[in-house]
Amino acid sequence: MGFKNKVILITGASSGIGRATAIEFAKLGSNIVLVARKKDKLEKVADELKKFSISTLVCQCDVSKKDQVKEMSKIVLEKFDTVDVLVNNAGFAIYGSVYDLTIDEIESQMETNYFGMIYCIKNFLPSMISKKSGHIVNVASVAASFGLPGIASYCASKFAMLGFSEGLKHELKDTGIGITVVSPIMVRTSFFDHTSFEKMPKYSPTSLSSETVAKTIVKAANSPRLEIIVPSIVRGAVWMKNTFPYLINPILGKSFKKQLDSTK
Ligand SMILES: NC(=O)c1ccc[n+]([C@@H]2O[C@H](COP(=O)([O-])OP(=O)(O)OC[C@H]3O[C@@H](n4cnc5c(N)ncnc54)[C@H](OP(=O)(O)O)[C@@H]3O)[C@@H](O)[C@H]2O)c1
Repeated sequence: MGFKNKVILITGASSGIGRATAIEFAKLGSNIVLVARKKDKLEKVADELKKFSISTLVCQCDVSKKDQVKEMSKIVLEKFDTVDVLVNNAGFAIYGSVYDLTIDEIESQMETNYFGMIYCIKNFLPSMISKKSGHIVNVASVAASFGLPGIASYCASKFAMLGFSEGLKHELKDTGIGITVVSPIMVRTSFFDHTSFEKMPKYSPTSLSSETVAKTIVKAANSPRLEIIVPSIVRGAVWMKNTFPYLINPILGKSFKKQLDSTK
């Protein structure tokens, strides 16, 4: 798919990876729908996109609320008829042990990261099916492959995202619609501004820029693959974990547990 004049909807477009993705698609001449809760931040991103002479639509929407997603999708489909690429990127994590997190905190991560994706897919997939084209890109994380102490509920939401995407990919075979999960390692964004991360070291030296991930999301929107891990070398670690879990899991578990204990 060429992206010129196509409609790209990005959730979590008000900052970080979502904002960078909007810019990458705008450079290619796509029309962009920017979705997130903070309207002022979305409008700033829309201002940044003006220089590309494309059409943009700002939609204030909490993706964890199914009524809001339904309302947002009505507005989008009235304006554009369809969405060619749906990027489910809105997400967040609350750091802490399962013992310390409240049930509400655990549920809230699943509501945004997992159910938010489902509400968007349920509202935009029918128009893709009738056009027999489109691509869904779900932004997960390497946390979709490793269950880690301190972010167990976040990992669960991303495992769920990957499992759902795999099942849906089989259902969509021969429909003309693709689905690809993008799973980055740590990215330098506002993601870690949540107060629960305040005792954590800010970024690892291997962390990625949001622009690198955004470029991968653009590639993913044309990819037949189920999952693209960024950087690709980390695929080796996932392979190792699946092939020799008794070797890798204790090492990772010990190091993340040490970090969790040090924040108490
Ligand atoms: N940063 C990392 O290390 C990293 C690594 C792997 C994967 N990821 C994933 O990448 C995605 C983007 O994160 P980021 O790193 O770019 O963080 P970020 O800068 O904090 O951006 C998160 C975006 O999600 C939006 N959002 C959060 N809750 C929302 C809700 N209920 N409804 C609508 N929008 C919501 C936020 O906007 P509003 O506050 O305006 O709603 C913001 O635009 C997330 O899914 C995250 O899990 C991040």
